[in-house]
Amino acid sequence: KKVVLAYSGGLDTSIILKWLKETYQCEVVTFTADLGQGEELEPARKKAEMFGIKDIYIEDLREEFVSDFVFPMFRANAMYEGLYLLGTSIARPLIAKRLVEIAHETGADAISHGATGKGNDQVRFELTANALDPSIKVIAPWREWDLRSRTKLLEYAERHQIPIAKDKRGEAPFSVDANLLHTSSEGRVLEDPAMEAPDYVFQRTTDPEKAPDSPEYVKIGFEKGDAVSVNGVRLSPAALLEKLNELGGKHGVGRLDLVENRFVGMKSRGVYETPGGTVLWHAHRGIESITLDRGAAHLKDEIMPKYAELIYNGFWYSPEREMLQALIDKSQEFVAGEVTVKLYKGSANVVARTSPYSLYSEDLVTFEEGAVAYDHKDAEGFIRLNGLRLKTWAARNKKARGV
Ligand code: ARG
Ligand code: SIN
Repeated sequence: KKVVLAYSGGLDTSIILKWLKETYQCEVVTFTADLGQGEELEPARKKAEMFGIKDIYIEDLREEFVSDFVFPMFRANAMYEGLYLLGTSIARPLIAKRLVEIAHETGADAISHGATGKGNDQVRFELTANALDPSIKVIAPWREWDLRSRTKLLEYAERHQIPIAKDKRGEAPFSVDANLLHTSSEGRVLEDPAMEAPDYVFQRTTDPEKAPDSPEYVKIGFEKGDAVSVNGVRLSPAALLEKLNELGGKHGVGRLDLVENRFVGMKSRGVYETPGGTVLWHAHRGIESITLDRGAAHLKDEIMPKYAELIYNGFWYSPEREMLQALIDKSQEFVAGEVTVKLYKGSANVVARTSPYSLYSEDLVTFEEGAVAYDHKDAEGFIRLNGLRLKTWAARNKKARGV
């Protein structure tokens, strides 16, 4: 028996590592990924070695994360419940995919993760595993063990000589999940939605009130719906998002305080910081505004909530997400050009856009005389026919109500 564990090197996953060995008498393979969370990975290797782990996987997945997960999702302008840019939701399928692949490489028959039994993340990890290998087993220690309190966890760690960092003795004031796209904070001091989040929760954005007093312009280039350059410099997907994080973060862009509906049934309150993603979201809509036909744009907007919900609920690997993705990708062929976004004290506004494939016609829209393709006389009949049923409706109402 062999288990591949998603291992951060932190206290909780170290306890899981030990617990798996004890409970299942199994060999453990550790997998630690760099998704841009801004943490050193080498300490995780040292720790895994200390636990006698032979197969230690440490991987930089930042480029794959942005090019194969974040960018496809941004082509859809995806937002869950109108506001959440899905920073945690989109990272889980990639981690789970690698867990399954590593299980195949090492001959393991199970994977394990450190998500709790109350959240969305357990669902995302496990649905991904189901979709990629129906025979693989998933072990979710948080749903199985009786280490339900902090005291019990610390006791377990002490009993098994798992080192506990000084700052891990007490309970963390809130739980954090971070990657290149966002930082998410939930729980404890954030649990009461009637209370504003304290300042110390924010980790990667300047307080908008303390952001620079002069605005900054950033020009983003697009090809086939994906961002490819910032201020004229071509960048790889991960480097580009990192650059936008730096610029957006400096100006306090992308903070969100949200009460959302978890897939497992309860409402939860979270604080999100998505600086680069927020700039990118606005820029992408900006370039689509001149390159997508109205029918295409409106259809995309209609399916977007469905697509976002699939990602939130853990169905990245599902037939319906792939079908919607094909539709979205098809729409992006001519979504190319440049968008200028103005960053200022928490806001990111599109102020200019250009494209070699622009559908915008100044000649058609101008208030000045022009445009042979548009005849004012046509508008008269257009309005008369559209108004016909409204006149019929209004006349019936008038008669029925006797006024
Ligand atoms: N509520 C967010 C989601 O479901 C983030 C969950 C993880 N965040 C955390 N602080 N543990 O996508
Ligand atoms: C967790 O419960 O592990 C994090 C929160 C979530 O998955 O929604």
